[in-house]
Amino acid sequence: MLVILRKTYEDLSREAARLVADRLRRKPNLVLGLATGSTPLGLYKALIEKHKKEGLDFSKVTTFNLDEYIGLPPSHDQSYRYFMRESFFKHVNLDPRYTHVPDGMAHDVEAQCEWYEQRIREVGGIDLQILGIGANGHLAFNEPGSSLGSRTRIKTLTERTVRDNARFFANADEVPRYAITMGIGTIMEARELLILASGEGKANAVKAAVEGPITATCPASICQMHRRAYFIIDEAARSKLTEVPIEEVTGREYAAPGFQSLWLGERSEPGEERRAHPHRG
Ligand code: F6R
Repeated sequence: MLVILRKTYEDLSREAARLVADRLRRKPNLVLGLATGSTPLGLYKALIEKHKKEGLDFSKVTTFNLDEYIGLPPSHDQSYRYFMRESFFKHVNLDPRYTHVPDGMAHDVEAQCEWYEQRIREVGGIDLQILGIGANGHLAFNEPGSSLGSRTRIKTLTERTVRDNARFFANADEVPRYAITMGIGTIMEARELLILASGEGKANAVKAAVEGPITATCPASICQMHRRAYFIIDEAARSKLTEVPIEEVTGREYAAPGFQSLWLGERSEPGEERRAHPHRG
């Protein structure tokens, strides 16, 4: 696991975009796992910019989103399919046929979940999974207490998540109570994980995930077991970390033994602050 500290949300988003762009340039038919929520919006914006200005090509990319509310059609402005279309898909040259979001309107939810897992297998697995983290440590809709080996399935949202998400709906009563979500086991099979966290509201969750015990009480803590999990967090989100000494590292050190996979192919700009801590190998 590697914790990369960046000063602001904008820096964090730029750093994440550099990593995604690097992976995409190395493998044009990348299988990319995507997340919704506020956190990855800056990353999507930065990727759109790279597409427009640098010609970053998504034409061969396949995407799988983590989750979708049950009961919201793709046309609903709070459905995750709608969110992805508006904030990312329609701004880059992704082939819509290669974009996957669980179908929240499926009559047979169980069959839908099995199909999702099968599609991921058919394309050879997810190369890079982008994740946000809930204030309660959830990953996708795998709320505290979720089985660490779980697969794609239906989950009931906790009251806390309903409350957190209510800001996007007219009131808490309108927030769906169920969702289809990739399981923690599904997420852990991705070859690389990129977990983004920004703001003080995430500081406790980041602390539990990075420095706490591995426990279903904080599903994100399972990332400690992943061989290529990168947390990119800003100063506010790191504010509760006590065990992680912060080291200044340059772009060159990203390529240090053990971290070759994180080499982004770009040197830091002169004077650009770049800090990271290789944590727990
Ligand atoms: C989104 C998802 C959620 C969010 C998490 C953080 O697809 O699965 O787990 O990543 O709730 O949300 P934000 O980024 O809005 O704080």
